[in-house]
Amino acid sequence: MLEVEDLNQYYGGSHILRNVRMTVPDGKLTVLLGRNGVGKTTLLRCVMGVVPTKSGTITWRGAKISSMPTHARVASGLAYVPQGRDIFGRLTVEENLLVGAASRKSPSKIPDRIYDLFPVLRDMKHRRGGDLSGGQQQQLAIGRALMSEPQLLILDEPTEGIQPSIIRDIGRTLRQLVDEMGMTVLLVEQYYDFARELADRYWVMSRGEIVAGGAGSEMDAHGVRELIAV
Ligand SMILES: Nc1ncnc2c1ncn2[C@@H]1O[C@H](COP(=O)(O)OP(=O)(O)O)[C@@H](O)[C@H]1O
Ligand SMILES: [Mg+2]
Repeated sequence: MLEVEDLNQYYGGSHILRNVRMTVPDGKLTVLLGRNGVGKTTLLRCVMGVVPTKSGTITWRGAKISSMPTHARVASGLAYVPQGRDIFGRLTVEENLLVGAASRKSPSKIPDRIYDLFPVLRDMKHRRGGDLSGGQQQQLAIGRALMSEPQLLILDEPTEGIQPSIIRDIGRTLRQLVDEMGMTVLLVEQYYDFARELADRYWVMSRGEIVAGGAGSEMDAHGVRELIAV
């Protein structure tokens, strides 16, 4: 389980995260929803150690990780697919994947399981990342994160700017990672229907605070769609 307790974060003088408390149970898919600008990406960046936290603790499987550098968090089982994907446009698909394996021992070959999850990456392995469509780049970013063999996969708005058919593929892949491979997933989303379909658990953030949470099956009844409607 990932546990975030009383997390606070500031940018300059503005208080961005306010006593955030959130748990992400093992072997489940947890969705974090919220409108633009409420602090979702900032929270993920704190969890990964990309930005330092001002106060509060982050615990992963009983160990406090909030003062560890990012690479140590990755080594402890966390992987991150950032918003906007951040793949390397001038490297090939294969090279992009190998970047994700940088911390593993023999990063010279791409495991079949990655290409089996995303067959399009196998077909396009010698193409440049920048030549892929937005949806294919998102699949590449997820494949790259999986190269470190994570136990917790964290994704920031993977459906942003992507065509519906690939959104469905990504949804199926995430369910497969959880249901068949025992992975834990934390998914940040603004696209309600996608989140509702996938969520085992959910949290809603508003202005830097967690304001609601529960079982995925209760999202409609709890009015989550209205909470995040623009
Ligand atoms: N690097 C930064 N410097 C200053 N303010 C930032 C920075 N990144 C984000 N913010 C501000 O912090 C708030 C939360 O942003 P963010 O975490 O990106 O929200 P979300 O992912 O929910 O859209 C927003 O008001 C945003 O403008
Ligand atoms: Mg964001």
